[in-house]
Amino acid sequence: MLKQIIPIVREAGQIVLSARDVWARTHEKTSAADLVTEYDLAVENFLKERLPPLIPGSVFFGEEEAENADPSCGWAFIVDPIDGTTNFVRGLKQSAVSVALAHDGETVCGVVYDPFKDELFSARRGGGAFLNGDPIHVSARPLSEGVFGMGTAIYRREYLAPTMRLTEQLFRRSCDFRRLGAAALDLCAVACGRTELFFEYSLCPWDHAAGALIVTEAGGVISTLTGGPLSLTERCSVWASNQINKDILNELEV
Ligand code: IPD
Ligand code: CA
Ligand code: CA
Repeated sequence: MLKQIIPIVREAGQIVLSARDVWARTHEKTSAADLVTEYDLAVENFLKERLPPLIPGSVFFGEEEAENADPSCGWAFIVDPIDGTTNFVRGLKQSAVSVALAHDGETVCGVVYDPFKDELFSARRGGGAFLNGDPIHVSARPLSEGVFGMGTAIYRREYLAPTMRLTEQLFRRSCDFRRLGAAALDLCAVACGRTELFFEYSLCPWDHAAGALIVTEAGGVISTLTGGPLSLTERCSVWASNQINKDILNELEV
């Protein structure tokens, strides 16, 4: 199945690369911080047309029309057509198409494609994680020699204070941190050892479903900030780590 999903996701990435005059094709969803572009919709429509026929009876759970499907039973494609929309609108070239395939609430395949770098991360449950076909692994670096990624839970401003508190605690223990602006790619950065940790207080299933599997298949650890499993049906916090830093979570005030 992964072999069939990958070329479709790569093709979707070409829609992202074809974008022109993005600001003129951008609309506010709920606020100036919550944007959707005509390209988000074009990618989602393309994937909605191409993915479900791969598995008859499967449902499509996409960010832009999420209310229409339940990804927790049967086969479900969980899709973020463009993760990192703010980066995309601003020409920052740090965005990805994210596709997960879940069965009865368990992610079995994950694909995250950054068309700007032509980097395709993929994983199949039990089959390892790959970047453009080459195996990837989390780093073995302790946080004291490491860099962590974080997200600001932009659509849930109530998490601002805890986000900043946790950032400060981790920053004091690390070399530096990054706020790269696309959660799916933040997770892949942990998976391939570019960063040691990532956290965000509130993410949706389509932000983390594919990336979370890629992290665990790359030998990393993933949970909520309270140590529980991630949800495929509602918003939750996300903590991703390499092995050596996984217990740090117990020492932090979250
Ligand atoms: C957002 C990005 C961002 C994260 C937000 C997400 P979107 O996704 O992943 O990095 O901080 O929480 O919602 O809106 O660009 O698809
Ligand atoms: Ca997203
Ligand atoms: Ca999105």
